Order: sequence, then C-alpha cells, then structure tokens
Amino acid sequence: MAVYAKKEGFALTQALEHSKAVEIVVGDGRDTTAVGVPVLAEGDLGDLDVDWPLLAEAGFAGAIGETYVVLRQGQPTRVLIGVGSREDLDKTKVRDAAAAFALAARTHRSLSVDLGEPLPNLTVGDTVQAIVEGVLLARYSYDALKSSPATVPLQLLAMKVADGLTADAEQGVATGRATSAATILARDLANTPPGLLDAEEMANIAQALGAERGFEVEVFDKEALIELGCGGLLGVNAGSAKEPRMVKLTYTPENPTGKVALVGKGIMYDAGGLAIKPGDAVHATMKNDMSGAAAVLAAIAALPALGSTTAVTGYLMCTDNMPGGSAMAMGDVLVTRGGTTVEVLNTDAEGRLVMADGLVLATEEPHDAILDIATLTGAAMRTFGVEIAAIIGNHPSLIDQLESAAQAADEPVWELPLARRYRSELNSTVADISNMGGPNAGSITAALFLEEFVADVPWAHIDIAGVAQNNASKSWRPAGCTGFGARLLIDFLTNFTRP
Ligand code: BES
Ligand code: ZN
Ligand code: ZN
Repeated sequence: MAVYAKKEGFALTQALEHSKAVEIVVGDGRDTTAVGVPVLAEGDLGDLDVDWPLLAEAGFAGAIGETYVVLRQGQPTRVLIGVGSREDLDKTKVRDAAAAFALAARTHRSLSVDLGEPLPNLTVGDTVQAIVEGVLLARYSYDALKSSPATVPLQLLAMKVADGLTADAEQGVATGRATSAATILARDLANTPPGLLDAEEMANIAQALGAERGFEVEVFDKEALIELGCGGLLGVNAGSAKEPRMVKLTYTPENPTGKVALVGKGIMYDAGGLAIKPGDAVHATMKNDMSGAAAVLAAIAALPALGSTTAVTGYLMCTDNMPGGSAMAMGDVLVTRGGTTVEVLNTDAEGRLVMADGLVLATEEPHDAILDIATLTGAAMRTFGVEIAAIIGNHPSLIDQLESAAQAADEPVWELPLARRYRSELNSTVADISNMGGPNAGSITAALFLEEFVADVPWAHIDIAGVAQNNASKSWRPAGCTGFGARLLIDFLTNFTRP
C-alpha cells in the first residue's frame, strides 16, 4: 500500500459499506423530514396550497427535473416533483425525477414519497427500482478523503404504494439497492486515488467481495502471469514499481441459461509509460483508467443477490502504466497470451495490450459471448462526448442486447462500425500486429486490434473513455467518476440470451 494512506485499508471499507447505510422501506414515511409529491405537468394540485400561476413564477411547470420546495413551520418540508405526463413515464424519466427530488432535499437525511396509483407503462417494481437508483446515485459523494463530509448522508428513503402492490415494490427495492450499490462501488473504486488503490489492493477488494457476496475469485500475481504468458499485461507493467494482478471472477448459478465472459481494463493509473502524458486536465483523470475493471467487478458482485441465471467469468487486467527505467520501449515487441506478437509503437496505447491477454483467456473457456469494457481511446470521447459510450462488435444480436440494456440503465451507447478496411493501419514490419493505428478513427482501429484476440466468439467492446468521468453534475450523475457500465452490464447479464 502507498505511504499516503490516511487509514490503512480505507478504500476497501468505503466500497463495502457505502450503500448499506441507507434504510429503504415500502410504506409511510414515518418521521421523514422531506416529503416528495409527484406533480403532473399542468396537473391537479389538490390541497397543496399553491396554484399554477404561482408555480410558473417560480419556474416550475411540472416537467421532469423540476422541483418546488415548500418550507412549512413545524411540518416536514414538501417538495413538489415534476413528473411530466403519466403516459410518458419510463425508467429514465422516473430516475431523473427522483434524482431531482433527492437533490432539492439535499440537506435532509430522510425522504418519503407517495407513488399513488401504478403507472400505465411501468410496473411498480421497475418504478421503485428507478426511484431507488435516482435517489441513491444522486446523493452519492466520494467523501472518504474529506476531513468532514461534503454532503449530508441519506439515512432513510420511504415509498408508499397502492394497496396490494407492496410485494412488487419490495422486489423493486431489492433490485434498485443491488444495482445502485454496484454503481456506487464502481464510482468508489474509480474515485480512489492511485496511491491508495493499486493492482494488489484491487485484487484484495475483489477477494473480500467474492467471500461476502458468493462468487469465486482467483488472483494471478506476476509470477503466475509469467507462467500464463500474459506478455501484454507484463509488458505494460514493466515500468512500474508495483506488481500487476490478473483477477479472475467466476459466478456460477445453479442452472445456467448462458455463459458470458467480461474483460475489464484495469490500468490503475495511466501515465502513458515512456510516451508520458502531458500535465494537463486529461492526464489528471487517469486514476479512472481502471473504470472498466471496476464496472466488471461491481456488476458480478451484484449477480448473486439478483439471482441472475447467466454464468459469468470476469477478467480484471490490472497494472499501472509507468515510465520507470525498466519500462517497455517504443519498438519493443511483446508476446501476448497465445503467442501473437505485438510491436509497441506507442506505450500510451497500453489498454489494448492488457486487454489482448484477457480476451485470449476468455476464448480458452466455452463462452456464448465475450464483452469487454475499457477506457480505451481519447477518440471515443471526441466522437461521442461524455454522455455516450462507443460500442463495436462482431455480432448484431449482441449489439441489440447491449443497446436495450443501455437504454434500461440510461447509460447510452452508440455503435461504431468494425471497419476492417482500416485493419492494415495496424500492420507491423517486425511483429504480427502493432498497437498503433493511424491518426484517424482511433476508436475503430483500437477495436480492430482487440478483434484479433477473440477468435470467432460473438464479441462486443464498450469504449467508456468519454463517459467514465464528468466535470459537471447532472441529475443522478455527480461530478467525478461515474461508475458507467456497472448497471448496463447487470441489465445485460440478467437478460442475456445466447446470440
Ligand atoms: N487511457 C487512455 C484513453 C483515454 C484518453 C481515456 C482520454 C480517457 C480520456 C488510453 O490508454 C490512451 O492513452 N489512448 C491513446 C491511444 C493512442 C496513443 C493510440 C489515446 O487515445 O490518445
Ligand atoms: Zn494510455
Ligand atoms: Zn489507458
């Protein structure tokens, strides 16, 4: 562990405890100090003691994302929550409305809301799940390193539902709790500074989670990786004072309905290697270069509680990318798992090197599909910005399944073409392939590189370089590391059908 640790092992503690602290109940709000009241746009205001002209003056028209706070002497604060029109309400809108409520009541520890009659296009379970996600994720804050917390922690969320729907709502609470906890874990891992979370600590956290939640964890240290011939991961690690780790996670349900491999990029800190990054704002976000591995770990850790019937193998490819004296040089050739040789023409294109080993390992076991997730290219950020991830794959039905999972989670993806006409840009004069494409279409050439290592297994790749971090808070996404991918992967895995 690094020398700057405030408290030994705090990264682990925060990750495991964060979301357990909130009590979530179906029923009356008891003594909650903030009460949310859903209000349809131009809808009936009943006995709320306000009228539409007054609300219009305050800029409240009942749209999603809008709230109006009523302070009342000696009574709970009332928050009018804009919910638009009943017919239009889907998970995304409910999640956004709930986030707006949680933020309008940010000084309150206890929130309650009466959901009234069920919605026309959303089950009560899904409605409750979306509310739990919106509230818990909006109130997330990485406070582990603050001398005093920056935000008021949430303690209680109560949701009242119509008679006879309590069981459905309880199911929604359980699902929403598990999915939110996954995003929160992924955020915590990515937000944790590199000096406190190295590859070894990441493996420790995976082991603790496996023991607690019920999935298998095998850790491969440097010696084991040499044995496995993982030259990509070892090459990237060569310039580091710290050891690499490959962490294999196995979730095995009783009667599996399919089997998926997940490979996550776990660059604990990307300095660029000898092609060192400049001291700019983007370099300063490179502690998040393990967001793919974090999403894989967080998603798999949620599966036992959700009772998912898809078997999953996860491969976390963990090391930092440092410019030490023993670092790989430009022009060096690495021998990846399975024997493919790779000429390193840029040490900062390290993600694809570690992913190559992970993808090959995934092909060595029978999987119906391989999915990889990585903060792989700056080009993905320039193409789609910070709200949409790039996806590329070799199998349309896999892409379809990913797109619906992305929609359900409101973690948007957009497909790029696997344009094999650009494959020649990766040709090397001395090795089988080089790790650098041309100056253009960087996300596509990176995916073409990865494709070399998946044999003919149905495969899809998610490039989260743009979406892993945001600078401005928006709805349930506070500024900082986003945990993007954890809930998308959960939805994908729990609904997976063999392509
Ligand atoms: N981790 C970066 C990608 C990245 C860039 C993530 C910006 C988030 C924000 C990756 O390892 C990298 O450095 N990629 C290079 C590849 C290039 C050298 C071919 C890039 O995108 O510039
Ligand atoms: Zn890099
Ligand atoms: Zn990187």
